[in-house]
Order: sequence, then structure tokens, then C-alpha cells
Amino acid sequence: AKITYIEHNGTRHEIDVPDGLSVMEGAIRNMVPGIDADCGGACACATCHVYVDEAWRAKAGERSSMEDSMLDFASEVQANSRLSCQIKVTPELDGLVVRMPEFQG
Ligand code: FES
Repeated sequence: AKITYIEHNGTRHEIDVPDGLSVMEGAIRNMVPGIDADCGGACACATCHVYVDEAWRAKAGERSSMEDSMLDFASEVQANSRLSCQIKVTPELDGLVVRMPEFQG
């Protein structure tokens, strides 16, 4: 699925991410800056924080309760905040837009 990652400074990265990977893995494998992913996708670090574009919030799904508590460690959390390692890329997410926060952690 095509995912658009937008850095805090506005730089856009349009990446074709294979289905089954997470939104975080799509960024890391393509060296998109702005996602650190210190824990490697275990929902244990909150350094893969992204803001899901409003138009995509429903499709991207709800935070799990574990993800929700981990987000307490992220800064500038908003209603559309997600941990990108917890969003799995599927064909339905083709066109997804996420924005990265200024800082991770
Ligand atoms: Fe650590 Fe997502 S990579 S919580």
C-alpha cells in the first residue's frame, strides 16, 4: 500500500510499503526520518509516534490499551496519535497519510 509520511518540517515521503509490514517498518526500511522505533516494534518505547491524518483515523483502527498506556511516554499526544508499529499495512490503507511529531520520546 502507498503510505505518505510527512516529516514535522513538511517533507513528504511517499513509500510503497508491502502489506503485512507495520507503518513503522515501512519508514525504517526506507530510511524515512522522524520515527526512531527504539524497541523494534514491541509497543514498548513510544518512539514510533505518528499522527494519523483525520481522513484515515477510522481505517487505521483504534489504539489497543497497551498502546494507549505506552503513548503516555510520548510528547504532544493528540486524539489522532498512534504508535506506528501497531498499525499493520493492508490494502485498505492504500493512500494512508501519517505525520511525524517534532521529537520522539
Ligand atoms: Fe517501540 Fe513502536 S517501535 S513502540
